[in-house]
Amino acid sequence: MDWDKLGFKVVPTKTMYVARTDESLAWQPGSCVPYGPIEIHPASGAINYGQSGFEGMKAFEAIDRKVVLFRPQDNARRMQQLADRFAMPPYPVEDFVTAVMEVVRENREFIPPGEKGSLYIRPVLAGWGPVLGVGPASYYIFYIFVSPVGPYFKGGVRPIDLLVTDYHRAAPHGTGSVKGAGNYAASLKPLQMAKNAGYDEVLYLDAREDTFVEEVGAANFFAVLKSGVIVTPRQGSILPGITRDSVMRLIGEHFSWELQERDVEIHEVLSQAAECFSTGTAAVVTPIGSITYRGSRHVLSEGKPGEKTMAIRDRLVGIQRKKYPDPHEWVVEVPL
Ligand SMILES: Cc1ncc(COP(=O)(O)O)c(C=O)c1O
Repeated sequence: MDWDKLGFKVVPTKTMYVARTDESLAWQPGSCVPYGPIEIHPASGAINYGQSGFEGMKAFEAIDRKVVLFRPQDNARRMQQLADRFAMPPYPVEDFVTAVMEVVRENREFIPPGEKGSLYIRPVLAGWGPVLGVGPASYYIFYIFVSPVGPYFKGGVRPIDLLVTDYHRAAPHGTGSVKGAGNYAASLKPLQMAKNAGYDEVLYLDAREDTFVEEVGAANFFAVLKSGVIVTPRQGSILPGITRDSVMRLIGEHFSWELQERDVEIHEVLSQAAECFSTGTAAVVTPIGSITYRGSRHVLSEGKPGEKTMAIRDRLVGIQRKKYPDPHEWVVEVPL
């Protein structure tokens, strides 16, 4: 592997983990099998009715060269929320974590060394069996594949430019709070529009009032107001990010800065924010350089990474790589 050439794309590895239910929907023991395509029925629930969703995690080398995961049980729990919302049988939390560790161990030669990148881990839960009338699939699959990926920031941290489009991501009481595959299908057109116009990502507003900030493509949103208070949109139709939760705790517990989790109006952000950033497994903590709303571009912190943004980023990455103490035991070692 040429570790310096890694991007964020699919790289075939050695094995993947696969488990299935029987027709009584009881999970059967899973195992690692050779990496490659999996046969699917033309009438599968996943293909026909979008009964599928996924998780995103990563394994990486800490500074002591141990391979670690970050809060894997929280990904397992979030997949159970997906299962509940999409009428799928939940995959047990402990089995999820054990399966993730097994597939990481089997593919350890694909883990990039040190800060060259990470092994992206993609657990998928889907209705695999045939179904004709709209209804849940007749059996289910849980699988995990991995792919080595490069650092999100090649050449250092770069603030991203966001575009507010006319599209919404998630409606109240819809599926925005779970990682359903269809949420991402619906985001592709606005993302293409933003990219074609030279932006990095879409900033979504709420579907009811078209006024409150929700999130950034596949990452959560924070604003540091000029008053010093940090605000982040409350839960409801946003995805409850594990990085978001970690950053919220660091803001309160480590930095003792005031944090408000509440409705955040786009006009408040545009007039009051000193810095903005987004959080996610891939993005970690990414500064936001500008927001374009109804044709006008608002530059934040002169287009440079904000001070508080970078302090939060340094603390989170330091905990993840075991440079700083980890009081919540978020970092979990993978025995190799
Ligand atoms: C829509 C959306 N929001 C936020 C996030 C960030 O979540 P996390 O921090 O758990 O990666 C993601 C990524 O999973 C996402 O897809």
